Amino acid sequence: MKIFEMKEAGGPEVLQFGDRDVPTPGPDQVVIEVIYAGLNFTDVLARRGIPGYSTGWPFVPGMEASGIVHAVGSSVQDLSVGDAVLAFTVDGGGFADYVVAEAQLTISIPAEIDFALAAAIPLSWAAAVGVIRAAHVTTGDSVVVTSAAGAVGYAIGALLATEDVGTVIGAVGSAAKSGALHSRYVPVVRGESYADAAKAAAGVETFDVILDSIGGAVLADSVAMIAPGGRLVNYGAAAVESEPPVPAFRELRTRNLDVAGFSIINMARRRPAIVHGLLRDVADRVRAGLVIPRPDIISWHELESAHLEQSNGSAVGKTVVAVNPTNGTA
Ligand SMILES: NC(=O)c1ccc[n+]([C@@H]2O[C@H](COP(=O)([O-])OP(=O)(O)OC[C@H]3O[C@@H](n4cnc5c(N)ncnc54)[C@H](OP(=O)(O)O)[C@@H]3O)[C@@H](O)[C@H]2O)c1
Repeated sequence: MKIFEMKEAGGPEVLQFGDRDVPTPGPDQVVIEVIYAGLNFTDVLARRGIPGYSTGWPFVPGMEASGIVHAVGSSVQDLSVGDAVLAFTVDGGGFADYVVAEAQLTISIPAEIDFALAAAIPLSWAAAVGVIRAAHVTTGDSVVVTSAAGAVGYAIGALLATEDVGTVIGAVGSAAKSGALHSRYVPVVRGESYADAAKAAAGVETFDVILDSIGGAVLADSVAMIAPGGRLVNYGAAAVESEPPVPAFRELRTRNLDVAGFSIINMARRRPAIVHGLLRDVADRVRAGLVIPRPDIISWHELESAHLEQSNGSAVGKTVVAVNPTNGTA
């Protein structure tokens, strides 16, 4: 079967197309014949060798897949050969004709959407639900999302649009990205005075909820502007800058702060039932009318350039690769 792989950790030179044998499932796994696979910033982190993203080298990235169940493990009960599914392929492998997925991280595709849209859900949208849940978002909250024009950022905006919250600041790295924001966001271009820009746009000094995926200086500025009783969830470190200190317990107590982290990858590896719930939550919302915009669909041969575009931060929204689009009729 065809694969797209990273020979080892490194720059663009480690990317290559190749061949591998079709995998077989373990007892609690399925093998999916891939139709579409989602691109994620986590693929970039894997290539950079950040611990926790690749399972070894060479590594086939691709953490989101949609397709048809090709084989089921001996202990799998809820899925059958021929089922149309989407899967959070937490150990990568989606950029291939066939991928192994944990049955618990694989669900049927809602009838309302097709295979291309389904491949945009398992990581980006499930993570967005998980981040919002971790932040205990409640009525009237003012919210900042520090990097709002990416795939997860868009999904967070769309989900917050269904909640009764107050101002929602969507910060972006450049003015050009403002147009890619979900309409629920008030756009703010991050600069040296990111915090000042966010406060001025909202007309407040502090925010009830801050959702950060950048880390470093942006995270430090974010911690400083949490409202009394407010919540901050850090779910990424795209800037690859040194991490600011977590506030001391005394500060947490006296400012009534709730500072938390969220990682869908680590949750999937340690508490897969919770991530199964997140996947089902997104599917239920789709059935109830949540609109997931069509992703950009690229061809197999555009995979390398699209991955590099994501790596340099110029990508906006969601991209999926058509691995075997003629196999799906949905
Ligand atoms: N914890 C979780 O469960 C979880 C799950 C999925 C993704 N994530 C994280 O969430 C973030 C968004 O993921 P995504 O898949 O939506 O990615 P994406 O669409 O590629 O968005 C990533 C964005 O990060 C921003 N960024 C800030 N500093 C950057 C840098 N030094 N290099 C490259 N990009 C930089 C860029 O937007 P701006 O310049 O506009 O800020 C970039 O477009 C990533 O940090 C990812 O690791 C976390």
